[in-house]
Amino acid sequence: MKVIIADDYEIMSREAAKVVAAEIEKNPDCVLALPTGGTPLGFYAELVRMHKEEGLDFSRVTTFNLDEYLGLPETHKSSYAFYMYDNFFNDVNVNRDRVHIPRGLAEDPHEEAAAYEREIKKAGGIDLAVLGIGRNGHIGFNEPKTEFGSLTRPIYLAKRTIEANARFFDDDPDAVPRQAISMGIKTIMNSRKIILLANGPEKSGAIYQTIHGPVTDMVPSSVLQLHPDCTVFLDRDAASELKPPSDDVVQGPGIMSMVY
Ligand code: GLP
Repeated sequence: MKVIIADDYEIMSREAAKVVAAEIEKNPDCVLALPTGGTPLGFYAELVRMHKEEGLDFSRVTTFNLDEYLGLPETHKSSYAFYMYDNFFNDVNVNRDRVHIPRGLAEDPHEEAAAYEREIKKAGGIDLAVLGIGRNGHIGFNEPKTEFGSLTRPIYLAKRTIEANARFFDDDPDAVPRQAISMGIKTIMNSRKIILLANGPEKSGAIYQTIHGPVTDMVPSSVLQLHPDCTVFLDRDAASELKPPSDDVVQGPGIMSMVY
């Protein structure tokens, strides 16, 4: 896996945004999978800046969000739909017809998930998936013990995830929905390119296991070791438990790049 360690969160966010910009420049019709959470806020802010100041054009881009809570309307301020419009879509020229987020109020979540999977296929598959990571190594909402062959489906959140995400629900774990719809591990792994972002000391353990640990369903992100084109973007805190790389380290302004 390729690993980029940035001196700080801003540089990490900028470097990750550059990968998206390069993808759009290469293929203006590209299909992106997009994350939510605290980690990608700087990344979205940088994409908005690139759109406003450098004309980065999202008009032909198709997006699929990784996940959405079940039971929340998109107008709920803690829904991922609200997050996406508030932090990104409202500030760029994305075509709303090309935006896909599972509907938290879908009457039949299983059918919603199956339809989502069909839409991804219809769009030609995902060119670039951007991921965050949970403290237990979850990607999307694929919690430990998720099958590597899983597709988009309704899931139950792990207790640790409910506690971690309570900060987006006025610190009230009881307000966090117990279920969500998430792209599956297989859906994510079928993406042609993957980048994962992580910052802060609370992610260092999950990052160690993602990169150095065995590939195991107990740490869903460890499956990324099997992907042919995956780059992990970290700040120094998230990278603090990594072993020194055996290959050459390439230094750039504010970043170190290495391959494990
Ligand atoms: C949530 C999301 C994930 C996200 C993770 C980390 O549960 N479903 O897609 O990557 O948590 O979030 P944060 O960046 O806020 O730590």
